[in-house]
Amino acid sequence: MVRVGLTFRSMTVDDIPAVTTLERATYPTPWSEQVFLDELGQANRIYLIAEDEGVLAGYAGLMLVGEEAHVTTVAVHDAWRGRKVGTGLMIRLVDGAIHSGALHLTLEVRASNVIAQDLYRRFGMAPVGLRKNYYQNEDALIMWAHDIGSAEYSERLATIREGLSA
Ligand SMILES: CC(C)(COP(=O)(O)OP(=O)(O)OC[C@H]1O[C@@H](n2cnc3c(N)ncnc32)[C@H](O)[C@@H]1OP(=O)(O)O)[C@@H](O)C(=O)NCCC(=O)NCCS
Repeated sequence: MVRVGLTFRSMTVDDIPAVTTLERATYPTPWSEQVFLDELGQANRIYLIAEDEGVLAGYAGLMLVGEEAHVTTVAVHDAWRGRKVGTGLMIRLVDGAIHSGALHLTLEVRASNVIAQDLYRRFGMAPVGLRKNYYQNEDALIMWAHDIGSAEYSERLATIREGLSA
């Protein structure tokens, strides 16, 4: 269950120092502050953060291109993992994508990252192929969820939402 103090909102430029600190603690080849600044400056992006009384618990982003919403990043602070922060970020990203008219959701994830893959499968994402050596030393699994505006997908999101408020 998500703790009561947890809130979600759009990422702003002021969040970038805390976000890049978590980014560096999370990824072997972290994005710089400049990359986040550039991302926030693009009109077709949605970047969100989760915070607990002002302390960053996680963040996530996506890029809208035509009918596709491409999830660019999801990261949750160690202390918050396994407590539905990732799910809370993803559901808000997907809601934003649907609102913006996206029909499909896609992303790349490390082939070895089964925890993240499990999270994405909950969102109806299925592996469709590999990008060889996409990361420095590892392949990426490409995952897709189609027809995210459909009634069937809306039911999936409703089930996830119920789980968040349980
Ligand atoms: C992947 C990540 C974002 C998940 O965030 P989280 O807040 O811990 O995820 P949630 O608590 O919402 O869990 C959602 C689902 O993920 C899976 N999951 C989460 N933690 C797990 C764990 N320790 N073991 C196995 N599955 C796990 C489960 O399927 C879980 O669903 P459930 O709680 O109903 O079993 C987080 O582990 C993380 O930041 N990892 C490092 C960065 C990363 O790998 N990002 C993805 C890059 S593509």
